[in-house]
Amino acid sequence: MSSKVIITIFGANGDLAKRKLYPSLFRLYKSGNLSKHFAVIGTARRPWSKEYFESVVVESITDLADSPEQAQEFASHFYYQSHDVQDTEHYIELRKLQNSLDEQYQAEHNKLFFLSMAPQFFGTIAKHLKSEQIVDGKGFERLIVEKPFGTDLASASKLNDNLLATFDEEQIFRIDHYLGKEMIQSIFAIRFANLLFENVWNHDYIDNVQITFAEKLGVEERGGYYDHSGALRDMVQNHTLQLLSLLAMDKPKTFTKDDIRAEKIKVFKHLHKPTDNDLKKLFIRGQYTSGKVDGKKYISYRSEPNVDPESTTETFASGAFFVDSERFRGVPFFFRTGKRLTAKGTHVNIVFKQVESIFGSSLQPNVLTIYIQPTEGFSLSMNGKEVGEQFNLAPLTLDYRTDATASGASPEPYEKLIYDVLNNDSTNFSQWDEVRSSWELIDRIETLWANNEVPLHHYKSGTMGPEASFELLNQFEADWNWRPDEAYRKEGRLG
Ligand code: BG6
Repeated sequence: MSSKVIITIFGANGDLAKRKLYPSLFRLYKSGNLSKHFAVIGTARRPWSKEYFESVVVESITDLADSPEQAQEFASHFYYQSHDVQDTEHYIELRKLQNSLDEQYQAEHNKLFFLSMAPQFFGTIAKHLKSEQIVDGKGFERLIVEKPFGTDLASASKLNDNLLATFDEEQIFRIDHYLGKEMIQSIFAIRFANLLFENVWNHDYIDNVQITFAEKLGVEERGGYYDHSGALRDMVQNHTLQLLSLLAMDKPKTFTKDDIRAEKIKVFKHLHKPTDNDLKKLFIRGQYTSGKVDGKKYISYRSEPNVDPESTTETFASGAFFVDSERFRGVPFFFRTGKRLTAKGTHVNIVFKQVESIFGSSLQPNVLTIYIQPTEGFSLSMNGKEVGEQFNLAPLTLDYRTDATASGASPEPYEKLIYDVLNNDSTNFSQWDEVRSSWELIDRIETLWANNEVPLHHYKSGTMGPEASFELLNQFEADWNWRPDEAYRKEGRLG
């Protein structure tokens, strides 16, 4: 891995940079993955001095640094340039700074660009990076692009074409931060390192797959962005479909970037394309109303700041994808994602088919649960025998959760992903073909929703979404496996 690099961040004063990027770069620095041969150029419109920028960086890593000296030493690698992305002159200045830092830090012309700002500027930035010869073909040149990658297929394609005018597909790293999460990466180990699962991971044995991305928070201060996005674009086009592809893919020939990506892309290509009538039945949307959880009152989505009081934007989406592959034909991949749900949690439940019972009573299906966050681990629910003279069946669960020390030591998603970029490893990034296939399907659902051909269901804050999401599974004789709202209701914690 080459840790000799000049990193330029567009959007250096943004929330993401402070909350995620600077701490992640610091962790890489602390673990020795960034050597002394690196510098960071932060750019944004606002004029900041180097001293002020350093103080912002120091503040963002205070909890992580062993000493104030260590934090300061790290921050001394950070330089700031006030930059208007439309102004060619500013790129000339940027090139000068880039060149002088390259010499000072002996970075061997390696460059990493991080676009962490409004996507409408990505094209302009990429164009200028080339025309002003900041991208000059010397050393490695890589580009990290934050989501959202477009808002539909047309805008995503345009954005991609703009980037391709300066960078090759191999140089573009489209971030999906879920792909940097420890437990998402563990899916490879669970699936391909265990005979027990590898042999039953198909439509003969799996009844359905359930993916839940539940958030307890509402839209917070992001109403302005979210009201134009909604859950389908914000969480499904990217995170949900990426996760689905890891669950549904065939076994790669080898555990290498090219073989893994080749299998992933097949899943996207095999995504079932239902008729419009079926899409209306298979995908439902919801929006939160006010509610009360644990004695605390929450306002409705329409009353949130920067949200249209008559907004029909969905804060909840649920549906069933199918993958037309030999392995999974006919198996529903249910998903639900929403804001202001009962609890925060990303879980995958693999629900196996029932065995025929010889016991005179019905059996629970085996369910493998992958806990992605906030707890990390797996559980497997099985049928056992109740202790006693009589033969009665009883459910039992094998449970493994990562302990707190291991979770604490696991890399932050951005740390892991930046590490991958420095290693030129794009396994955990979205490829253009994947993005294109996912937009093709999502666009069709968006159109039906925008034309109000599908009802917008309302759900109370603190519940697990509208009834329609439960009814959707019932149509397939299935039920959501994870139901934290039931426990809350029993304990009288939901208003
Ligand atoms: C982001 C979405 O991609 O993921 C947010 O834009 C969402 O709306 C977030 O809150 C969830 O990520 P995490 O890692 O907190 O589960």
